[in-house]
Amino acid sequence: MLTLDAAYLAPNVTPELVAQQTDRLALAHATLTNGSGAGSDFLGWLDPAAMADDALLEEIESIADDLRARTDVLVSVGIGGSYLGARAVIEALGGDRTVEFAGQNLSAHYHSALLGRLKGKKLAVNAISKSGTTTEPAVAFRIFRELAEPGCIVATTDKHKGALRKVASGAGWRTLPIEDSIGGRYSVLSPVGLLPIAYAGIDIRELQRGAIACARAAAEPDPKKNPVLFYAAARNLLYQQGFLIEALASFEPRLHYVLEWWKQLYGESEGKNHMALYPSSVEFTTDLHSMGQYFQEGRRALIETFVIVDGGEPSLTLPSGDNADELGYLVGEELTAINQAAYQATALAHREGGVPSLTIHLPKLDAYHLGFLLYFFERACGISGYLMGVNPFDQPGVEAYKKNMFGLLAKPGYEALSGELKAKVGA
Ligand code: PA5
Repeated sequence: MLTLDAAYLAPNVTPELVAQQTDRLALAHATLTNGSGAGSDFLGWLDPAAMADDALLEEIESIADDLRARTDVLVSVGIGGSYLGARAVIEALGGDRTVEFAGQNLSAHYHSALLGRLKGKKLAVNAISKSGTTTEPAVAFRIFRELAEPGCIVATTDKHKGALRKVASGAGWRTLPIEDSIGGRYSVLSPVGLLPIAYAGIDIRELQRGAIACARAAAEPDPKKNPVLFYAAARNLLYQQGFLIEALASFEPRLHYVLEWWKQLYGESEGKNHMALYPSSVEFTTDLHSMGQYFQEGRRALIETFVIVDGGEPSLTLPSGDNADELGYLVGEELTAINQAAYQATALAHREGGVPSLTIHLPKLDAYHLGFLLYFFERACGISGYLMGVNPFDQPGVEAYKKNMFGLLAKPGYEALSGELKAKVGA
C-alpha cells in the first residue's frame, strides 16, 4: 500500500475541500468502472489480473526464460507506451540481465553507439508496436532484427492487423498479443511491458500483485480513504484554482523513467481541448541546484507531487574524519536520512514559497510497490481525465507531426502533401 501525505496541500486543498468533491468523484469513478465514458473501448487495463491471466503470464515467463538461456542482451524496440513502462520498471528495480532500448528516437548517434555496445553479444530482439506501423521502431527493428540469434525475435503487436503482425507471421517469429482494449500508455502490465521486464529477471507476478492490490483499494468510495480519488481530486482542484504545471518530484535517481512514464500518461491522456496541468518532472536534490530557484520564486503556477521511498534502501553512513569539511555533525548519519531531511526541507520551503504539494510514500521500491504505484497513476489518470471532461484514452494530437513527417519523407500516399510541406519548411 502507498500512503498520501496532504499536509502541504493546505490551504489550497484540504481534506474537507476534497470531501466536497465526493459526488463528482463518484460520477467520474463510475464513468470509468462502468465503461460509460468517452474512450470506454480502452479499459482493458482496469483489471490487471484479466489483462495478463495466468496462462499469459506463464507464456511470457517461458519465452523470457528461453531468451535468457540463449542470449546475453534483449533489445526492446518500441516508442511511447510501447517503451516507457518497461524502461521505468527495469531502471527502477534493476534486474540481473541487460535490456537495451531502441526505436524510441531517430538518432543515428544513439543507434550507432548501441550497435557498438552490442558487438560480440548474443542478442534477442523484442519488437513492440500495437499499430505495427510506427516509423521510429519500424526503422530500428530493420536495423536490429538481422543481429538476433536464430529464434530469438519476438513481436508484441496487435493480434490480427498491422505491418509488424504481417512480417512476424511471414517470418514465423514468436508473437505476443496486444489487446485492442489496451492503449500504449496503459500497457506496462500487459505483454508490452512484461516480456522485457521478465527478461531483466524481475518478478512480473509480484508487479501484477501490487497492481491488483491497488485496484482493490481503488474501489473505496470515500476520497479520504482512497488515495486514487484523493490524488485525482486534489490535482483537479488545484487546476481550477489556476495552477498550470504539475511536477512529479523524486529524490531517487532510479525513478527517472517512472517520472518519464508518468509524464506520457498524463500528458497524452489529459492534454486536450487546450486544457490540463502540464506534467513535468524534477529529480532532487540534483535539480534543487538548477530548477530549485524557479520552484521557490518563479511564476506561481506550479504544484508538486513527491514520490518518496521510505525504506528498503542500502545502509551507507558518513565516515568520520577531521572536521575541516564541517561535516562532523553528520558523522555516522545514514545517507537515506540526509536525503529524507532534504525532502522535508524542500516540501516545506516550496509550500512557504507558494507551491502546494502532495507526497506519495512508498514503503519500499520493490516489484510489488512499483506495480501498486503504476496502477495508482493509471487509475487516477482515468478519473482525472473524466473530471476534466476529456477522453483520457485517445491521442489525436500525436498524429499531426506524423502526417508532416510522412509528407516530408514522401511516403507513398503523401505525395500531394509533400510539395506543400517542403515549400513551407524551405526544403
Ligand atoms: O500511448 C500511446 O498510445 C502511444 O504512446 C503509443 O504507445 C506510441 O505512439 C507507440 O505506438 P505503437 O505501439 O502503435 O507503435
